[in-house]
Amino acid sequence: MYKSVLLMFILLATYSCTESKKDNNTTTETTNIDKKWWKEAIVYQIYPRSFQDTDGDGIGDLKGIINRLDYIKSLGVTAVWLNPIYSSPNDDNGYDVSDYRNIMSDFGTMEDFDKMLSEMHARDIKLVMDIVVNHSSDEHEWFKESRSSRDNPYRDYYHWWPAEKGEPPYRYSLFDAEGNAWKYDEQTDSYYLHYFSQKQPDLNWENPKVRQEVNDILKFWAEKGVDGFRLDAFQFAAKDTTFPKFPDGFEKNFIQYYAMQDGLHKYLKEMNSEVFSNYDVMTVAEGAGRTLEEAHELVDADRNEINMAYAFDAVDIPKADGYDLATFKETFSKWDSAFAKKGWISIFLSNHDQARMVSRYANDVLAYRAPSAKMLNTFILSMRGTPYCYFGDELGMTNNPKLKNIEDYKDIAAINGFKKAKTNNEDLDEYMRNLRFGSRDHGRTPMQWDASENAGFTTGTPWLPLNPNYKSVNVNAEEQNEESVLNHFKKMTALRTNNDVLVYGDYKLIQKEHKQIYAFTRTLDKDEVLILLNFSENEASFALDNLAAYSEIKINNYLELAHTESEITLKPYQAVILGKD
Ligand code: NOJ
Repeated sequence: MYKSVLLMFILLATYSCTESKKDNNTTTETTNIDKKWWKEAIVYQIYPRSFQDTDGDGIGDLKGIINRLDYIKSLGVTAVWLNPIYSSPNDDNGYDVSDYRNIMSDFGTMEDFDKMLSEMHARDIKLVMDIVVNHSSDEHEWFKESRSSRDNPYRDYYHWWPAEKGEPPYRYSLFDAEGNAWKYDEQTDSYYLHYFSQKQPDLNWENPKVRQEVNDILKFWAEKGVDGFRLDAFQFAAKDTTFPKFPDGFEKNFIQYYAMQDGLHKYLKEMNSEVFSNYDVMTVAEGAGRTLEEAHELVDADRNEINMAYAFDAVDIPKADGYDLATFKETFSKWDSAFAKKGWISIFLSNHDQARMVSRYANDVLAYRAPSAKMLNTFILSMRGTPYCYFGDELGMTNNPKLKNIEDYKDIAAINGFKKAKTNNEDLDEYMRNLRFGSRDHGRTPMQWDASENAGFTTGTPWLPLNPNYKSVNVNAEEQNEESVLNHFKKMTALRTNNDVLVYGDYKLIQKEHKQIYAFTRTLDKDEVLILLNFSENEASFALDNLAAYSEIKINNYLELAHTESEITLKPYQAVILGKD
């Protein structure tokens, strides 16, 4: 359908260009592929609080998701990852669970959940649940018991430090207003550990009872028929419970001290043998260790732990002052080559912990928002690895200019981070500049469905303000515009679904020194496609000796493509995939 003839010139081009030469020893062939549904999946991530409200409380709910399942299906995605929907006092929007077998009242009931799941399955959409078990809420029954007395049977479900031993060795907390992960609790004259907020006490994974509880919870959801689990912050779950002193300043590099501690693989192997291996589930842990080797140890099939790595290197690249395309290319190429033969990775540029991808990696000004959003979607959906598409990115949703001052933010990380910066006499203007660029709240503003009041998200007051651009950037408007970001997204999902080369094909970076264009090929058997992405707001040329060989335009985010026999000139943020006819 996207096929059109690109190049009329005589096929004089040869494979003289070394970058196009195939090495038969390394080229992937269809027969060697270990095919899995979760490798072929296109994941759509929904932040339920912000997707669709049906009861007018300004907060999205499960009924809202059910009402939008036909839309989700129309996107061509095949799985949904839902952020936590369990009972929660919402200190961290559901990442503080008070009952793992119940649904948060803001979101609905278990009946709504069961209906949502069966309606998803009726449409061939799989469901991946977020499992938050590095910590629970302090309002979970386990913690209430645990904090009640030193000899309570639940005491060892969490990490406690008795005050008579003196102050515990400093641990850094990501969300604490003072940055301290130990919180003194008067009731038992002890401190408890919380790597995240004070209301998110860390579970003690050394305790076999905790592990059994978690496995039972996983089984509960697996028995309901869910298709996968995303393990929140799990690389932090294992701890050295002697709590040795860490060097001063360790917090600047805390991942080195917190991630992948002894015991983690044992816990994952237990989960795998007790739960994962008994169901056809997709499993992914947030964070992929400190090195590529550690990532392999988590996901290689013979490890019997989880399926795929979800690494942060790429989302850490953009900064308020910009970023370097060379680093971006290098990062994705490094991960691809490390996993070319073994293991599997996730591909994403945004999620609920990031601001909007078009504002961070590309250009959200009016003239470039649409082409640059399409370009990023082309990228995500043409890489090797399971693509994760964050809700709203299929429309090209952008950072929200209404989030100006600290009072406009709802995220605990933003608010407590501000308090900490103030206490430490840091530059608050600089803090706010970074927040306006990168706050998680930008990625959490409500879905833009139509041009009516509150974008059709709610009839009440939305929990976070709608982005004013919803009048033009919305599902309804974009569905009607053949050239919209949304329609381009649908074309890309169809292209990936119908072309195994985009899922399983070898990846090869070409012309890596190019300052504006990210160019790579994907190759599977005789099938080869060339992907050209202009990451800049200027035209950019790309010369290739054997350009003539790529005579089919599989997708183009502009209506035209300027070229000569050996050179293509891409417009600002132009993205094309060319195939060999
Ligand atoms: C990682 C989650 O993605 C994030 O949203 C959450 O705040 C922390 N883990 C704590 O659960």
